[in-house]
Amino acid sequence: MKKTFYLLALGSVFAITTQGAFAANDRTGGEVVKAVCGKCHETGEGGAPKIGDLAAWGPRMTQGMNTLTTHAVQGYRGMPAHGGEISITDLELTRAIIYMIAPKGAGHAGVNTAILDTKYSGKDLYDKRCQEGHAAGKEGAPKTGDASAWGPRLAKGMDALTESAVRGHNAMPARGGLATISDAEIRLAIDYMISKTSESFAKQHAKPKH
Ligand code: HEC
Repeated sequence: MKKTFYLLALGSVFAITTQGAFAANDRTGGEVVKAVCGKCHETGEGGAPKIGDLAAWGPRMTQGMNTLTTHAVQGYRGMPAHGGEISITDLELTRAIIYMIAPKGAGHAGVNTAILDTKYSGKDLYDKRCQEGHAAGKEGAPKTGDASAWGPRLAKGMDALTESAVRGHNAMPARGGLATISDAEIRLAIDYMISKTSESFAKQHAKPKH
């Protein structure tokens, strides 16, 4: 009985958190700009650098994407924190910035810089690098397919998981030890591991066929 309850509880944690993680306002840069940032960045109100105006963005870009994103997250002089809409995630802010810098680029979908560029699919990157630690659950790494190891981590949300993988966390090296992979690729690889885990969780708990 106790065990059934535990599995049910874990199942619902999974349902809630995976839904939360994936459904979390994953809008494209273009969508976020249209909904929020355009209000000032379309017209240049209050000195906001205008969309696609490289002369205005150029000097700001030299600070690097991380600083630009931090400024958008925390607010910066006339720029309100999160563009005034607190529900926008950091990833969406990054995409919106890329879109504003190069609205005609592939940044439309939020994927055209060194930070967001994806050369590897989630599976490719997993096979190339992540499985070394995660296939066997080495040094405390949550094992691929192990729902009880991933469950509590999922509760942190995809943004936080991506950030720990980018920065490094305990025995997990920053960017899995591959300096050249982008945040977006890391996120895809995490998505991949979670999807494998959800699959094996579902298989383990599928009703036995008689
Ligand atoms: C209420 C108006 C307003 C809205 C809405 C707004 N911004 Fe801004 N933003 C500004 C202004 C004004 C500046 C220039 C601040 C300065 O440098 O004095 C700015 C500057 C910036 C900068 C450059 C910061 C730097 O370090 O130079 C970024 C990045 C940015 N905005 C991103 C965004 C994003 C992303 C959104 C939408 C989620 C957004 N902004 C929405 C007014 C706005």
